[in-house]
Amino acid sequence: MSRRNPTFLCQNCGASHSRWQGKCDGCGEWNTLAEEGQSAGIGARAAGGKPPRKGRLFALEPLTGAAPDAPRIASGIAELDRVTGGGFVRGSVLLMAGDPGIGKSTLLTQAAAALARRGERAVYISGEEAVAQVRLRAERLGIAAAPVELAAETSVEDIVATLSEGRTPRLVIVDSIQTMWTDMVDSAPGTVTQVRSTAQMLIRFAKRSGAAVILVGHVTKDGQIAGPRVVEHMVDAVMSFEGEGSHQFRILRSVKNRFGPTDEIGVFEMTGLGLREVANPSELFLSERDLGAAGTAVFAGIEGTRPVLVEIQALVAPSSLGTPRRAVVGWDQSRLSMVLAVLEAHCGIRLGGHDVYLNVAGGLRVHEPAADVAAAAALVSSLANSPLPADAVYFGEVSLSGAVRPVAQAAARLKEAQKLGFARAVFPEPSQKDASEPALAVEPVTTLAALVADIAARGRPGRGVHPPAEEAD
Ligand code: TYD
Ligand code: MG
Repeated sequence: MSRRNPTFLCQNCGASHSRWQGKCDGCGEWNTLAEEGQSAGIGARAAGGKPPRKGRLFALEPLTGAAPDAPRIASGIAELDRVTGGGFVRGSVLLMAGDPGIGKSTLLTQAAAALARRGERAVYISGEEAVAQVRLRAERLGIAAAPVELAAETSVEDIVATLSEGRTPRLVIVDSIQTMWTDMVDSAPGTVTQVRSTAQMLIRFAKRSGAAVILVGHVTKDGQIAGPRVVEHMVDAVMSFEGEGSHQFRILRSVKNRFGPTDEIGVFEMTGLGLREVANPSELFLSERDLGAAGTAVFAGIEGTRPVLVEIQALVAPSSLGTPRRAVVGWDQSRLSMVLAVLEAHCGIRLGGHDVYLNVAGGLRVHEPAADVAAAAALVSSLANSPLPADAVYFGEVSLSGAVRPVAQAAARLKEAQKLGFARAVFPEPSQKDASEPALAVEPVTTLAALVADIAARGRPGRGVHPPAEEAD
């Protein structure tokens, strides 16, 4: 007789533990372990009784061969198609992950409607909302007339059986994977085992039928239900839908894509009539600039293949706390610490008695190290109360030695800046100049100290960058 040991699975990352503990060793999250029964498929031991099944023979295929026509189908929503790499791939499974309420259902309802309007079969399975609620949303979005096929179902067996009948759907949306369940596993919907097993069944359905399947996955903080990470490795593509709750901008980012680029972003705006595409994100991110204020710098960034200009805002103010605050929104906290350390070590700036706040305007999250120079310029500008020229863009990577290093795609950044009416660019010039560089006034910068001196020289009298004693009064 084989004794079944209980298994504790982390609801965040899926790591398995033989006993309960407070912290998951796999991902470091607290309080996310839950006891789950083993499914027949995953981790089952051969000691269960039945003799091992004899394998079935299958044919091996060459790399070349006839592919079914039109392997991709574009949704018609350009920002979405950009992120998927040109449309949904036949027989592929895509995971759309995001915080609850960010707009996943809205975007996918719009995508399903756009496809259905062109005569493709699009099916929307909602496990969270009743049919009437989905209809209500569609009405509000003005797309209720589109022939999307709708159901409120949660049993994956029923869903697969229904979808296998008749014409193969081109697009199947399952909203959300955390509400789906299968009879094969005896744990509650939303647990790691259920999420994995149901995802596996839907993946098998997609590969067999050729339908493109989109799974919606809620990102969860508290580990009550399994997060999308437990299926990330099983699906073909993962898109993450992000945004700050207080902003109406939403960013769709491709995190993993077996059939296209990653790091590409799509920008949307949440309006009363659903998500609207933002074709030119730079214009949007710069639309509410506070010209002439100290502490803001425009960063010429690249998101995927597209240049995006954003405003980086900094506030450096004397602190009344023993340990001054360092707060950052939209940028990496450790990158900020590094830039501050370089400013202190190489540029003679003392920030030990100052609170530092850094914010990327518009709710964008910047991941590039190229933002170092813009962040440093904004910080120094705030400290020195010296507004930066309104028509300048900044980019470049700061190294620990205080040097400023060139970054990739300078020409694309400059071109976008010029298009938006900027007249000068502050950046480290690459060793080989690109012949196609546009005619912007170039202010090359090689060290952070030179940039700081330049900004300080422009500053208003009364607040200095170097003498920290003057700041104290
Ligand atoms: P939803 O798509 O339901 O989010 P998710 O599926 O990711 O949980 O979107 C929910 C939010 O979007 C809700 O707070 C209301 C807002 N919203 C609008 O502002 N305009 C709209 O037209 C719609 C449909 C939703
Ligand atoms: Mg939803």
